[in-house]
Amino acid sequence: MRLAGKVAIITGAANGIGLEAARVFLREGAKVALVDYDAIVGEQRAAELQAEGEVAFFQVNVANQAQVTGMVSMVKERFEKIDILINNAGITRDNMLLKMSSDEFQQVMDINVNGVFNCTQAVVPYMLENGKGKIINTSSVSGVYGNVGQTNYAASKAAVVGMTKSWAKEFGRKGINVNAVAPGFVETNMVATVPEKVIQGLVQVIPLQRLGKPSDIANAYLYLASDESDYVNGTVLHVDGGIMM
Ligand code: CAA
Ligand code: NAI
Repeated sequence: MRLAGKVAIITGAANGIGLEAARVFLREGAKVALVDYDAIVGEQRAAELQAEGEVAFFQVNVANQAQVTGMVSMVKERFEKIDILINNAGITRDNMLLKMSSDEFQQVMDINVNGVFNCTQAVVPYMLENGKGKIINTSSVSGVYGNVGQTNYAASKAAVVGMTKSWAKEFGRKGINVNAVAPGFVETNMVATVPEKVIQGLVQVIPLQRLGKPSDIANAYLYLASDESDYVNGTVLHVDGGIMM
């Protein structure tokens, strides 16, 4: 029970890594607010997870500041405090630079950058009240090293690293730890859109010779959310099978 009594908000929790994180956090004793803009799948997942612990679903587009603020105050009302924020929601709109539209660029920035800004800004006042908190942002191997076809996404995930380090400096003295996880390629819907030949090429260059599983990333979130990481701040934890070193 590494998160006994803790209250966690996990964004993008209807699918993939966020959903697995919700399972792991509930198993470790946390109360979990599942946040996603997909209400049909999100409600269904919350119903399935009821047996595992205290869980509630909130339909929110993280890019919408008013929706985020409303959700955060409802979570506080329902669970009385907020200990952990996992900024996991994210999208891709891949295209080669010369074909990328400004809409494709902007949509990714709105969700992957503004979404992280909105959720963190709304949650931090409650963490300051507690004098403690854990914020975990989701970057990517693409944000650290770049990737063909991902100008928008790589820029957004590099921005996540910049925000993580800035907030680690701003809030460290207030008892709030801010860290990022930079996953490699993980078997979720997001990677399902990558052409098979690209995947084959990737697996060959990953020293562990496999893609990541959602649980590989959820376990990293768990470490950074737990008291075990109390002296870890402003770091980017690479969970990528060693794809880049
Ligand atoms: N490395 C080097 N060259 C590459 C490449 C790569 N990874 N991918 C494509 N290219 C080359 C192609 O070989 C091709 O070269 P030629 O013009 O010489 O033939 C050229 O780039 C154009 O490629 P496509 O024919 O595939 O172009 P397209 O316009 O049909 O598609 C694309 C472009 C949408 C970007 C497509 O290539 C694609 O989806 N690539 C995968 C992008 C990717 O890796 N996305 C990761 C998604 S998962 C994720 O984002 C999670 C995370 O955090 C890691
Ligand atoms: P996924 O596509 O399986 O799940 C993402 C979830 O986020 C979905 O349920 C989606 O509805 C939700 N979402 C998207 N935009 C939202 C918004 N505006 N508001 C609320 N919810 C929203 O993706 P996956 O793979 O689980 O990704 C989770 C995070 O991990 C993302 O930030 C992604 O960029 C990051 N990541 C994923 C990698 C991978 O290989 N799968 C690698 C590196 C990082």
